Amino acid sequence: MADSRPIGVFDSGLGGLTVAKALQTLLPNESIVYFGDTARVPYGNKSRELIKEYSLEIADFLMKHNAKMIVVACNTASALALDELQQHCILPVIGVINPGAAEAIKATKNDHIGIIGTVATVSSKAYEKALQGLNVDIKTSSQACPLLVPLAEEGWLEGEVTNSIVKHYLLPLNNNEIDTLILGCTHYPLLKDVIANQVNNDTILIDSAAAVARAVKESLLETNQLYDGDEKGTLMCYVTDIPMRFEDVGQRFLGSPMDHVQTVHDI
Ligand code: DGL
Repeated sequence: MADSRPIGVFDSGLGGLTVAKALQTLLPNESIVYFGDTARVPYGNKSRELIKEYSLEIADFLMKHNAKMIVVACNTASALALDELQQHCILPVIGVINPGAAEAIKATKNDHIGIIGTVATVSSKAYEKALQGLNVDIKTSSQACPLLVPLAEEGWLEGEVTNSIVKHYLLPLNNNEIDTLILGCTHYPLLKDVIANQVNNDTILIDSAAAVARAVKESLLETNQLYDGDEKGTLMCYVTDIPMRFEDVGQRFLGSPMDHVQTVHDI
């Protein structure tokens, strides 16, 4: 059976486009309805209650827009609100933490994994719990990197300032000799080149986007909801504030112009 309804993807801002891009690569014929909460970003320094409230509102919006499943591309929302979302929604809901943790476990050789993310994600210890659920012997070191989200949102994806901030954040993880680093925030893949230059040699960077896309495909196959038509999928984006930078930076990242970006005032 072909289910041409879109996959709903949401993030606090534009970082979740990293996941949208991975979905487009793996499932080019699936349509995506993307929600970026650009008026209320960042979530990473907000309370659990507020993050849950925003996430549930967005899930309702995506369900009203006919989504067939919901991908919580935001690490912070995945870390703090996934259970509530799964209970609240009548659709399958997939977060980014478990697929990212599983990739990291596959990659590590010395069983010492680093995690970088927002203050909320790091304090929730969601990645540690997921990693230790897969292998109790895994050691972890984590570091909150709150300045990286505004740098990515502003499109400061390289240069002296970005380099030195990234270097500062990664120093303790390098000293702890992690061999694998989870980019535990949707925005960090945008800064992947800078991060790759600042980690110890041979450290493997885990960007969970591709793993999330594979989990989405599996879930759609299981529920018989994969679109099997020939038409290429569309990407419809909704944001909660004027889409200026969203379009600029998003376009740079997706590698193609963004045709449909609409501002939503009440969700
Ligand atoms: N989307 C958030 C995440 O992946 C980062 C931005 C924010 O703090 O809202 O954790």
